[in-house]
Amino acid sequence: MSSAPRARQSIRRRLVLFLVTMLLLLVGAAAAITYVVAARAANDAYDRALLDPAHSLQQNLRTIDGVPRLDLSSKALQALLYDEADDVFFQVRGPGGNVIAGLADLPAKAGLGEGQQRFYDFEYGGRNLRVAALRNEQDVLIQVGETRHKRNRLIGEILAAELVPTLLVALASIALAWGGIVHGLAPLARVRAELLGRTSHDLRPIPNDTAPVEIAPVVDAFNRLLRRLSEANALQQRFLANAAHQLRTPLAGLQMHLELQLRREQAPEIRAELERLHKATLRTGHMTKQLLALAKAESTSGAEAPLHPVDLYQCAEAAAQHWVPVAIARRIDLGFTLEHASVQGDPSLLTELLDNLIDNALRYTPGGGAVTVQCGLRDGAPFLAVEDTGPGIPPSEQDRVFERFHRVAGTTGEGTGLGLAIVKEIADRHGARVGIESPRSGQGTCVVVRFGAIAPAASAG
Ligand SMILES: Nc1ncnc2c1ncn2[C@@H]1O[C@H](COP(=O)(O)OP(=O)(O)OP(=O)(O)O)[C@@H](O)[C@H]1O
Ligand SMILES: [Mg+2]
Repeated sequence: MSSAPRARQSIRRRLVLFLVTMLLLLVGAAAAITYVVAARAANDAYDRALLDPAHSLQQNLRTIDGVPRLDLSSKALQALLYDEADDVFFQVRGPGGNVIAGLADLPAKAGLGEGQQRFYDFEYGGRNLRVAALRNEQDVLIQVGETRHKRNRLIGEILAAELVPTLLVALASIALAWGGIVHGLAPLARVRAELLGRTSHDLRPIPNDTAPVEIAPVVDAFNRLLRRLSEANALQQRFLANAAHQLRTPLAGLQMHLELQLRREQAPEIRAELERLHKATLRTGHMTKQLLALAKAESTSGAEAPLHPVDLYQCAEAAAQHWVPVAIARRIDLGFTLEHASVQGDPSLLTELLDNLIDNALRYTPGGGAVTVQCGLRDGAPFLAVEDTGPGIPPSEQDRVFERFHRVAGTTGEGTGLGLAIVKEIADRHGARVGIESPRSGQGTCVVVRFGAIAPAASAG
């Protein structure tokens, strides 16, 4: 078996090739039948006329001394054998078979009884002749032959009259079939557009009620695959969410016990050990929180959950209450420039997104710096931005920081590398684009989330 990849097959090419082959066969068969019929019609039309000179020759035979002779002047003979389109030949043979007049080398037509006449085709001197032969009561054989020019012309005319319309109909059928296939395949293009327009989370079945019966089974099979994929995804998400959730309770217990122990009198080396354990517990707690957030953001079942109009202003205002004390503790000036902007979204996911952006800004900006949270409309589309005066993210890292578990080398402070991956997932879920821009001051980081078309205005708070 050859392992060479097979060329991609085109339904349109296959159908048109099949149609062209079939039409060519049909036109060929029609041409053959028409030719046979036309040849017979041409002979019918001209054979009788060929008999006339033969009869005239017969009438001009005289028997002298018991021997038949042709009694015609050469002029009269010329007039008798004249034809506009064809060359005409003749031959007269006496009862003994000897040639009395005309062509010497035209063989006698065999099997012709007295008083009988017959027409036949004969090749003479490289030319195709049609010959009329008749034998009279005196056993004289008269043969008149003519070339086939006018017969061939008639056959050509009949063929043209029959085949030109047939060919035109065949060409029109191919053009119609081509257009029909393009039209017929339009539902496939619709399915393709529907799939291309989806985010990676959208595993909803493709609407199948309008698909034509020919592609409905394919769409059906694909929908079944989507359902299985969605179930497998949901199972995985549930497992991750459950695992993270299950870990949270014992971790919280462990953290509480460690804090209790740290408040008590402890030997210095035990205190140092307890502090290390406490930090590790906090890190693990943060990791489980981030994993849970990622699982929620990725959850495919969420794709089916209806999105609500959410005011970005309200989201940011709620975040302010949580983050202002953190910013004060880190000596960072946290400011808000907020305008109302409504998007279709999931409020808890949008809060998660904003928390991760503000957390990064506060965490990586050194004390004394500033962080500004902005939202509103830019170029007619809702946006959300968190800007800081921190160290900034090098351009070569600006795509990679959205990958899971990726942290820029040399980053100080704790972190799992999941925050921006969560932001990206949530932005994707909302059909928004997230990018890193340079702040106007030229120093720091500005992460901007741009949403799509504006949703109907939500109640402003
Ligand atoms: N505002 C920022 N300023 C400077 N660097 C940043 C900023 N935000 C993100 N980064 C860089 O991008 C990396 C990835 O950020 P991300 O939020 O995904 O993970 P993390 O903050 O390290 O961990 P996590 O948020 O899960 O606790 C960070 O480690 C840091 O190097
Ligand atoms: Mg982070």
